[in-house]
Amino acid sequence: KISSIAARRIWDSRGRPTVEVEVTNEDGTSGIGVAPAGASRGTREAVELRDGGEHFKGLDVQLALQGIERDIAPQLVGSEVENQAGIDAVLIELDGTPNKSRLGGNALIATSLAVLHAAAASARMPLWRYLAQDSVATMPLPQIQIFGGGAHAGRRTDVQDFMVIACGAKSFAQAMEMTAEVYRCAGELMAERGPMAGVADEGGWWPNFATNEQALDTLVAAIERASLVPGSDVAIALDIASSEFGHAGRYRLAMERIEIDSNAMCEKLVRWVERYPIVSIEDPLAEDDEAGLVAFTKAVGQRIQVVGDDYLVTNADRVQNAAAIGACNCVLIKPNQAGTVTETKAALDAAKAAGFRTIVSARSGETEDVAIVHLAIGWNAGQLKVGSFARSERMAKWNEGIRIESRPGAPASFAGAGALGLSQL
Ligand code: PGA
Ligand code: ZN
Repeated sequence: KISSIAARRIWDSRGRPTVEVEVTNEDGTSGIGVAPAGASRGTREAVELRDGGEHFKGLDVQLALQGIERDIAPQLVGSEVENQAGIDAVLIELDGTPNKSRLGGNALIATSLAVLHAAAASARMPLWRYLAQDSVATMPLPQIQIFGGGAHAGRRTDVQDFMVIACGAKSFAQAMEMTAEVYRCAGELMAERGPMAGVADEGGWWPNFATNEQALDTLVAAIERASLVPGSDVAIALDIASSEFGHAGRYRLAMERIEIDSNAMCEKLVRWVERYPIVSIEDPLAEDDEAGLVAFTKAVGQRIQVVGDDYLVTNADRVQNAAAIGACNCVLIKPNQAGTVTETKAALDAAKAAGFRTIVSARSGETEDVAIVHLAIGWNAGQLKVGSFARSERMAKWNEGIRIESRPGAPASFAGAGALGLSQL
């Protein structure tokens, strides 16, 4: 049973306030949950409760903390900590809004994750194993950012994430080794070709390119410089995050100073798929461009993974709709988009039932919290995305994966390239 709940303000990887909740059980064990924060958010995500006003540019979370102490804690103390679904239902009811704007998605997800951690601690199990129970747990295939653009780098490139997937890796640890080399080589190429401008919000190199294609060319060159074969050892994954620059069927590409329609955007991306060793594209069209997403998935959905992030917002109903109309074939799973662990799992289960692939993902604003690594493993998601290969809020997560894989009693297998479900790999 839960004996106490404490909420506190801590600071995320952008130096902004965020919510941490600590749930303590009567048996003395406890668990901590932390809310991450996005920069390129979907409009249908659970809403973050921030104080507004002048202090910390309005980003403080005192209202969210007060809601936990005043409304949530008294309701949950005494509850069975194992009853995640029941506790999440109480959280949803206490909030009472469709988008979790009263108590805040940040307050709710921190509480929900703290309850989950506390339950695993009380069962004396690592979180991933507690989640897997008797079903299979698998080490996920990582998607790792090399250049970070879009909203994470002052919009230096239109595309947000230029990532790699180590398709040839036989273990999680080997995927890290291969990516480390590509990341280092990409940094060398950047330094040789112009002033090195540091790293973006998720640790990817700050992109000093003239075009999106130049970034893609440099990524291929970095894979080759690392003595790896583009496409078979290491392939490319992109998060276009196109809701950031596309609205009502119009896409404004700042680098080329052009505005194009949905068809032209779709054709541009199809050309990239033909020209570069790309295996995955996230949010290729904007969240309000369902017809575009359907057209794009029809064009390349057999060849690559088409991932819905802003469009699906970790919502089971939206995943089901997307599957029915063929608007993607993979879902990005971000717990704070949904607001509770139970709703997050429901979106993942809906995706699996529809034959979609699944990727558990961090946000651009993170902390040293490693919960999502355990979710990806214990829920057998197949893939994990946490940003780049630098900055310790990212490395904490990759390193946690290495630790879990190397310990006795580790998950039986590594998902590997099979997680992408693509026949040509
Ligand atoms: P965000 O970006 O966390 O800034 O929303 C991550 C993503 O778009 O996948
Ligand atoms: Zn995204």
